[in-house]
Formats: sequence, C-alpha cells, structure tokens
Amino acid sequence: MNRPILLAVLLSLFAATAFPPGEASALSGQPVPFSHKTHVAGNGIDCRFCHIYATRSASAGIPSVAKCMSCHRVVAAGNPSVKLVARAADEKRAIAWNRVAKLPDHVYFPHHKMVNAGVPCLFCHPGVDQAVETVQKRAFTMGWCMACHRQRGVSIDCWTCHK
Ligand code: HEC
Ligand code: HEC
Ligand code: HEC
Ligand code: HEC
Ligand code: HEC
Repeated sequence: MNRPILLAVLLSLFAATAFPPGEASALSGQPVPFSHKTHVAGNGIDCRFCHIYATRSASAGIPSVAKCMSCHRVVAAGNPSVKLVARAADEKRAIAWNRVAKLPDHVYFPHHKMVNAGVPCLFCHPGVDQAVETVQKRAFTMGWCMACHRQRGVSIDCWTCHK
C-alpha cells in the first residue's frame, strides 16, 4: 500500500473510533480542530491571554477547557466543534491535545527567561498566528539555541540546557 493511501486508511480508522456516531469529528490530528488563525489573526487574541505561564514558568501551558468556555458559552455556541468543547466542560474533562512543539527530555527550556528577555513568540513559533492546524515550522536544534546564546552573551555551558 502506498503511503498516502495508508495514511488515509489510518485516519479514517481514527475518525471512526475516536468519535461516537453522530458526533462532529475533528479534521485535524487534534481532538478538537483548534485554529490559531481564527483566534489570533482573526480575532486579535494575544498569545499570552491563553498561554498564561509563558512569562512566569518553564512551560507556556495550554489553556483549560474553562478558559475556552469563558468565551464559548456564548461565542459560536452552535458550532459543531465548539460543542465538543462544551461537552468536555459539562463532563469536567480535559481535552487531550497532542504535543506539537517538543524538545527531548534531556533539554531544559525555561520559556519565561526567553520571553521576558524580549524574544517574540513568533520568532521561535513562526506562522502559528496564521495556522489553521498548529505546526512547529522551525527545528529546535542545539546549534540554533547556541547561536542566539552566543550572540546575546547568554551561557553556553552544557549544564545550562542539560540538567
Ligand atoms: C526562544 C524560543 C521560544 C520562544 C521565544 C517561545 N517559545 Fe514556545 N517553545 C519553544 C520550545 C523550544 C518549546 C519546546 C519546549 C519543550 O519541549 O520543553 C516550546 C513549546 C511551547 C509550547 C508547548 C509546551 C509548553 O511549554 O506548554 C507552547 C504552548 C508554547 N511554546 C507557546 C509559546 C508562546 C505563547 C510564546 C510567547 C509568549 C513562546 N512559546 C515563546 C521555544 C520558544
Ligand atoms: C477570548 C475569546 C475566546 C476564547 C478564550 C476561545 N475562543 Fe474559540 N473562538 C472565539 C471566536 C471569536 C471565534 C470565531 C467565532 C465565529 O467566527 O463565529 C472562535 C471560534 C472557535 C471555533 C470554531 C471554529 C473556528 O475556528 O472558527 C472553535 C472550535 C474554537 N473557537 C475552539 C476554542 C477552544 C478549544 C478554546 C480554548 C482552548 C477557545 N476556542 C477559546 C473566541 C474565543
Ligand atoms: C484562544 C487561545 C489561544 C491563543 C490566543 C493562542 N493559543 Fe497557542 N494553543 C492553544 C491551544 C488550545 C493549543 C493546543 C492545540 C493545538 O496544538 O493546536 C495551542 C497550542 C500551541 C502550540 C503547540 C503546543 C504543543 O502542543 O507543543 C504553540 C507553539 C502555540 N500554541 C503557540 C501560540 C502562539 C505563538 C500564539 C500567539 C501567536 C498562540 N499560541 C495563541 C490556544 C491558544
Ligand atoms: C533568539 C535568541 C534565543 C534562542 C533562539 C534561544 N535562547 Fe535561551 N536565552 C536567550 C536569552 C536572551 C536568555 C537570557 C535571559 C535572561 O538573561 O534571563 C536565555 C536564557 C536561557 C536559559 C537560562 C540560562 C540561565 O543562565 O539561566 C536556558 C536554559 C535557555 N535559554 C535554553 C535555551 C534552549 C534550550 C534553546 C533552544 C531550544 C534556547 N535557549 C534558544 C535567548 C535565546
Ligand atoms: C543553549 C542550549 C544548549 C546548550 C548550551 C547545550 N545544548 Fe546540547 N542540546 C540542546 C538541544 C536543544 C538539543 C536537542 C536538539 C538537538 O539534538 O540538536 C541538544 C542535544 C544534545 C545532545 C544529543 C544529540 C543527539 O543527537 O541526540 C548531546 C549529546 C548534547 N546536546 C551535548 C551537549 C554538550 C556536550 C554541551 C556543552 C558543550 C551542550 N550540549 C550544550 C541544547 C543545548
């Protein structure tokens, strides 16, 4: 079987098992088709409004279902994808988002240090503001981290990034 066909078959199996019949199914690889384009480019919502820990801790954090519902109790409440979010809220269930931007476990990356030093989110996550489906376009290689640290006079000792 060639790869596109295999992929299509796997995706259809996923769609068939992940969502009960009659339920709206996600088109993306995520349990709910969340679009940064709608929220950021379309409605001007700031990255930090949702990813609230980016200025305070190592992880930027993914917004809770309660945060989504602070708008979606009213906004687009009839949209089938929004209904998936409302159902999670009613069942007091978190949405199991798949990770998109990830380093190996042996690397330490403190978001707050770089964000508070003024490095823009989109420098490291280019295009996310326009993404219908979130993808990480820039590769997080050690050479890339090192180049900026050298340029900005930040430590490049091994144990800075490898704990
Ligand atoms: C200097 C580059 C850099 C900047 C600036 C940056 N990020 Fe990241 N981001 C990363 C890297 C690297 C990872 C993967 C981290 C890991 O796996 O430990 C990541 C992961 C994430 C994640 C998923 C994991 C998590 O931390 O919760 C989110 C969400 C995220 N970034 C949002 C943001 C937002 C929003 C901003 C701006 C406020 C931002 N990032 C600024 C490099 C950056
Ligand atoms: C600050 C308000 C706000 C928050 C918070 C918010 N949204 Fe939205 N969302 C919107 C607006 C505005 C739209 C566009 C509605 C329209 O065009 O009718 C939208 C649209 C959507 C749609 C419909 C599909 C689309 O892209 O148009 C989905 C699904 C969605 N949001 C999911 C979420 C999820 C999941 C969360 C939480 C992680 C969330 N939203 C948080 C304001 C918000
Ligand atoms: C309305 C809330 C909302 C806003 C505003 C928002 N995000 Fe997100 N973001 C999410 C949600 C929900 C996810 C998880 C689903 C996904 O990956 O699409 C996510 C995922 C991400 C990820 C991937 C995390 C991972 O799983 O590794 C990155 C990177 C990210 N956002 C960066 C940004 C940046 C940069 C901005 C501003 C340009 C931004 N986000 C604005 C809600 C938001
Ligand atoms: C565009 C520039 C830039 C990139 C790219 C970048 N950093 Fe940084 N990083 C900084 C700056 C600036 C600081 C210093 C912030 C401060 O002084 O508090 C910093 C601080 C750090 C620190 C804390 C250092 C300390 O002494 O406390 C760690 C750890 C770190 N970065 C890891 C990484 C990793 C891992 C990557 C790649 C995935 C990366 N950085 C990519 C600019 C960058
Ligand atoms: C500024 C952050 C940073 C510093 C400083 C740093 N590394 Fe890394 N290192 C990374 C990142 C990010 C990765 C994962 C991505 C990659 O493999 O390029 C990594 C990966 C590695 C790997 C695994 C490579 C692989 O193929 O799996 C080794 C080994 C390593 N680093 C050794 C070192 C040594 C030795 C030093 C000191 C000379 C060092 N690192 C300094 C960020 C850093």
